[in-house]
Amino acid sequence: MTDTPVLLSLTNITKRFGPLIANNAISLDLHRGEILALLGENGAGKTTLMNILFGHYVQDEGDVLVLGDGGLAALPPGSPGAALKAGIGMVHQHFTLAENLSGLANIRLGTEPLLSFGREGDARAKVKRIIAESGLDVDLDRRVADLTVGEKQRIEILKALYRDAKVLILDEPTAVLTPQEAEGLFVVLRRLAANGLGVIFISHKLGEVLAVSHRILVLRGGTKAGELVTADADRRAIADLMVGKAVAEVVRIPALPGETLLEFDGVSLHAGGRQALSGVSLKLRAGEIVGLAGVSGNGQSGIAALISGLAVPTSGTMRLYGEAVAKASPRDFVMAGVARMPEDRQHDGVVGTMSVADNIAIEDVRSPAFSKMGLLDRKAMRERASAAIAGYDVRCPGPDAEARLLSGGNVQKLILARVLEREPRVILANQPTRGLDVGAQAEVHRRILAARDRGAAVLVISEDLDELFALADRFVVVHAGELSDAGPSEGLDRGTIGLMMAGQARPPVGIAS
Ligand SMILES: Nc1ncnc2c1ncn2[C@@H]1O[C@H](COP(=O)(O)OP(=O)(O)OP(=O)(O)O)[C@@H](O)[C@H]1O
Ligand SMILES: [Mg+2]
Repeated sequence: MTDTPVLLSLTNITKRFGPLIANNAISLDLHRGEILALLGENGAGKTTLMNILFGHYVQDEGDVLVLGDGGLAALPPGSPGAALKAGIGMVHQHFTLAENLSGLANIRLGTEPLLSFGREGDARAKVKRIIAESGLDVDLDRRVADLTVGEKQRIEILKALYRDAKVLILDEPTAVLTPQEAEGLFVVLRRLAANGLGVIFISHKLGEVLAVSHRILVLRGGTKAGELVTADADRRAIADLMVGKAVAEVVRIPALPGETLLEFDGVSLHAGGRQALSGVSLKLRAGEIVGLAGVSGNGQSGIAALISGLAVPTSGTMRLYGEAVAKASPRDFVMAGVARMPEDRQHDGVVGTMSVADNIAIEDVRSPAFSKMGLLDRKAMRERASAAIAGYDVRCPGPDAEARLLSGGNVQKLILARVLEREPRVILANQPTRGLDVGAQAEVHRRILAARDRGAAVLVISEDLDELFALADRFVVVHAGELSDAGPSEGLDRGTIGLMMAGQARPPVGIAS
């Protein structure tokens, strides 16, 4: 790949945030037709580097050079407009689309006056051509609000290509996709690269990095830890570069289940104008982890809403500690010792403008631990936050730092600390390691197992079968709003689960409990 021209060159990029050096003299070249994976622990500086490249942040030192008509030329720092014009397209992890407009209008937005109806035909023809070349198939006339996450992402990529991007940057593009959608994205990226595009993508999933990239650049603590040619790399080599040591494997010993803490008994749920769950039965027992597998959108959000106290069954019974739950109250659930790790940490996880300490205490502010004679005990809150920062390795300047300044993975660790430190009796862990680096993933798995071992009942919802195999004592599969029987994970194979996820198989004889 190094025989094609260099499209983009970063030379000695350094970026400081106060005393923190987020990027330390980083250099990299991207060639035409190359897919470069950018890897590193949470907080290593990946997003920061991409934000500099795209002109969102101004670097303290170094240059961003892009290939133009006259060869490589430096971009003016801090100018997204100049970056766009030079052919750099960026797909952020959190989409920036106008929800009420159609896909086509979003693609055109910012490139031409919206009221120039005359040229819509030209625009449509150009987008159609890009779709044909790339395989980025999506309905251009539907409102973005009505599209799936995967479709919105395709609109974002089309938008970049419509502006004639030469370099496409994707920050954790697969974190929000189902495994099937991720496969589809990789097919597209390979085609785009074959047509000459340069691609940089950030990911924590080593399997996909090895499958899709040509070259791997690893950051550690803001510096470049190394570069690997993917064909010569394996998981161990990458993990070594990322954390400087091999990641210890998590060992799960069999569970000793106790009493049932939460139970669904023939539960149906009607939500958002449709039947989300039909006749679902499941017992979550103390000291046991149940893993819920399924393609997203098959009823997971209904189950999560019930366990979070956001909804009550339309019919059937949900019992918490043996008593039927009659009204929806997230607060009552929290007070009763039911904890949840929300799936969408940016929306329901933290309040970005509040400090780390306030975010740790947010569900607890009325508890005696944090109030003295009706006043908030700030000192106690800060102490709890400092303990959480140390215990969960949340990389941030301290308890007073605003949550929005933390890297994606560190926000996730913050939420985990908040959830687990209260020693809940029932835990809903919804995609608990999404966006976490391999070391942090192992640590979260250890924490969830420890919560089980002190007697918590845990439901893990995940699209990552490896994660479910690492954690689950029993497996249950959700498909089209129905649950399979929950059987022991021992002896279960991936093929069977895959078929059950697709609704094509019943559990094999012997897995029903
Ligand atoms: N605007 C900012 N002000 C202060 N610190 C910041 C700012 N943006 C990022 N940081 C810090 O810079 C460091 C690198 O963050 P960055 O978001 O680049 O990490 P990352 O490698 O993308 O991590 P993740 O895998 O968790 O997304 C972190 O310590 C983060 O808290
Ligand atoms: Mg990031």
